[in-house]
Amino acid sequence: MTEKIAIILGATRGIGRALPGVLGAALGTGAIIYVTARNAADGERLARELGGEGVTARWLAFDLADPASPARVAAILRERHGGVDVVVQNGAYMPRNGISAVEDARPMIVSNSHGTLRVLRSFLPILRPDGRLVIVASSMGLLRNLPEHLRARFDTTRADPDAINATMDAYVSAVEAGAAAAEGWPDWVNYPSKVGQVAVTRAFARWAKEAGVLPAGALINAACPGVTLTDATRDFMGTVFKPEDAQTPEQAALGLAQLATLPAGTSEPYGELVRHGKVLRFGD
Ligand SMILES: NC(=O)c1ccc[n+]([C@@H]2O[C@H](COP(=O)([O-])OP(=O)(O)OC[C@H]3O[C@@H](n4cnc5c(N)ncnc54)[C@H](OP(=O)(O)O)[C@@H]3O)[C@@H](O)[C@H]2O)c1
Repeated sequence: MTEKIAIILGATRGIGRALPGVLGAALGTGAIIYVTARNAADGERLARELGGEGVTARWLAFDLADPASPARVAAILRERHGGVDVVVQNGAYMPRNGISAVEDARPMIVSNSHGTLRVLRSFLPILRPDGRLVIVASSMGLLRNLPEHLRARFDTTRADPDAINATMDAYVSAVEAGAAAAEGWPDWVNYPSKVGQVAVTRAFARWAKEAGVLPAGALINAACPGVTLTDATRDFMGTVFKPEDAQTPEQAALGLAQLATLPAGTSEPYGELVRHGKVLRFGD
């Protein structure tokens, strides 16, 4: 039997760092888990630590903001293994406390919307039958977090992923021109960014099925890990998040691993946002 191949994009810290152990346990012995980092020092540390934890792990360099990176990593997996069973895109440009949307909007959308679409386009062609492609997003990406007049721009039952990203680029332009508030966009950049990421995933999943390019039995979904104490949320505890609600990264990783290892023969959820096994309706 061919060994299971999984890859976790963005695994250096937080939820992504907790995922290889949990995913490895769910996939069983013989699985090879690729983890990615943006620099060699982190990648080598990761591979060393995971080896010590009994996970068969290899590291690859990957940067969501680099347009060439997803295709390069997918080509390596194709060459070494012929395909991949599980892809979890966890890496994200995270908003920083006290930093204005004017500074954060462009790099966030470049990574989290455009980067996500590049990941989907690069890894779908090497996804094996019954493969699982999971984009880690957030319940902040539900349409109810936008005012009603903006929601039609994210109708993923009709819009294609490039149209969604064009809307995200228009959002960035509005932020940089000082016009975002007047257009009704939320102040905090994480809401539009996550709406864009979930919408791109849903639109791509719908397109893949309609175009007949989805491998047999494969599933594409977005995931919300739930509130988790990490470097990204530490400074927002007590304001945006309640510390008593926060999970550990290991607890959050369990829900992601479950979605990433749904058994063969599972047809749903598909193209949804899922938190710990429960579909959160996007609202389009
Ligand atoms: N924590 C929560 O409560 C929560 C809730 C809902 C959703 N989420 C989502 O869960 C995911 C992980 O969040 P987290 O809290 O674990 O964040 P985190 O601790 O800040 O970790 C972020 C990870 O993303 C990587 N990353 C950043 N920029 C990247 C890029 N350009 N290319 C590739 N990787 C990149 C980081 O790598 P470096 O070490 O190189 O920076 C790091 O491994 C995010 O998508 C986040 O939105 C988190």
